[in-house]
Amino acid sequence: MTEYVTVTSDAPLGRNGAIKLYGPEAFVGMHAAGKLAAETLDMIVPHMVPGVTTAEIDALVYAFIKSHGGVPATLGYRGYTHSCCISINHVVCHGIPSEKTLKSGDIVNVDVTPILDGWHGDSSRMYLIGDVPLKARRLVDVTYECLMLGIEQAKPGNTMGDVAHVIQRYAESHRYGVVRDFCGHGLGRLFHDAPEVVHVGRPGTGPELKPGMIFTIEPMINIGKPDVKLLEDGWTAVTRDRSLSAQFEHSIGITEDGCEIFTVSPAGLHKPPYA
Ligand code: MF3
Ligand code: CO
Ligand code: CO
Repeated sequence: MTEYVTVTSDAPLGRNGAIKLYGPEAFVGMHAAGKLAAETLDMIVPHMVPGVTTAEIDALVYAFIKSHGGVPATLGYRGYTHSCCISINHVVCHGIPSEKTLKSGDIVNVDVTPILDGWHGDSSRMYLIGDVPLKARRLVDVTYECLMLGIEQAKPGNTMGDVAHVIQRYAESHRYGVVRDFCGHGLGRLFHDAPEVVHVGRPGTGPELKPGMIFTIEPMINIGKPDVKLLEDGWTAVTRDRSLSAQFEHSIGITEDGCEIFTVSPAGLHKPPYA
């Protein structure tokens, strides 16, 4: 069944399938890395406007993370050569920064993962470009609510299935589709570690949540069906039915009585509109 291992030394522990339970020093490190992720997502807010290229946003993200003593985890990760992922409209995740420009009406996810002092802070938010139709804004709002409902369930004694279930129930009550092909993940000194954090499931199923666990929750919600397809570039995931998709992501740590969110916006820019 599910294995847990208490992380006692500072020596980085590899990926062995067990769920790591971290101590207070890890929480301090994750708070710092998570804060840098959140500040990066705050910093780009005024730049997310019609006409800007996603490569320009990527360059801003790179410069900001570097100047704050961090390194983008995605740079060189499995052959990925950019500092963030930028996923527009029907792109579900892992959109590659390019010379493509943002246009009015777009909904855009930016996902950043700075490594600071060896700890990974992984977070993403949605941005509304110019005038966005109500239908798209509703998707973005519901997706944010899905993430926060999931986080409310992230406490000792609950299971991953409890987190997944509230996300699925809320999304499907709006007749949206919850993406199955990508999930959240444990993280810490590693970018992607056990456990898998699924976003659909039944209450009481899956690994039990214990104090010291550190992981992301990052639901991807589609206006249409849950199905995704991978583009030729090997990274870009899009909705099969070309419907709009949204995502928010936080990195969290389970405490004795709930959880701490490491990636809260210091500027209070939690969800759009940010103005
Ligand atoms: N930040 C993404 C996540 O939330 C992973 C991106 S990996 C990349 O897990 F290589 F596509 F950048
Ligand atoms: Co993640
Ligand atoms: Co991410």
